[in-house]
Amino acid sequence: MERTFAMIKPDGVRRGLTPEILTRIQRKGYRVVGLKQMMISHETAESHYAEHKDRPFFGELVSFITGGPVVAMALEGENAILGWRGMMGATNPANAAPGTVRADLATTTGENVTHGSDSSDSAERELKLFFSEDELLK
Ligand code: PPS
Repeated sequence: MERTFAMIKPDGVRRGLTPEILTRIQRKGYRVVGLKQMMISHETAESHYAEHKDRPFFGELVSFITGGPVVAMALEGENAILGWRGMMGATNPANAAPGTVRADLATTTGENVTHGSDSSDSAERELKLFFSEDELLK
């Protein structure tokens, strides 16, 4: 069993895609062990995306992710980290396989609807950044 951090980004929430994305996650069979709608602080955003701080789009990414409510989730299941990444599809929706969230619901890399941890180290770090222990189901 693995746990991963998943997020519906501000574009997805604003466009009313939360129910569709939650339905896909539940149909897949992942257990949603943490779920909250929240605003991300500037500080949390910079920490979350720290590995990208030298990339040219960093400022844009931080202002986008702090610009409206997100839905933060902790998902549990067998191979949940890679599995959720697979369900999301490639970062650039133009390269995402048909049937993935980004192929079906997004058009740009900057506003690509969802986020998912890319490794077990990232999952552990991101889950700790967004959830306290008492917000997660056992
Ligand atoms: S990945 O999946 O980490 O390999 O993708 P990467 O290309 O490294 O992108 C990392 C995150 O930055 C976002 N991104 C952008 N935001 C705004 N503008 C531009 N041009 C841009 N390019 C990439 C991308 O959506 C990734 O966000 P997350 O939340 O990690 O999916």
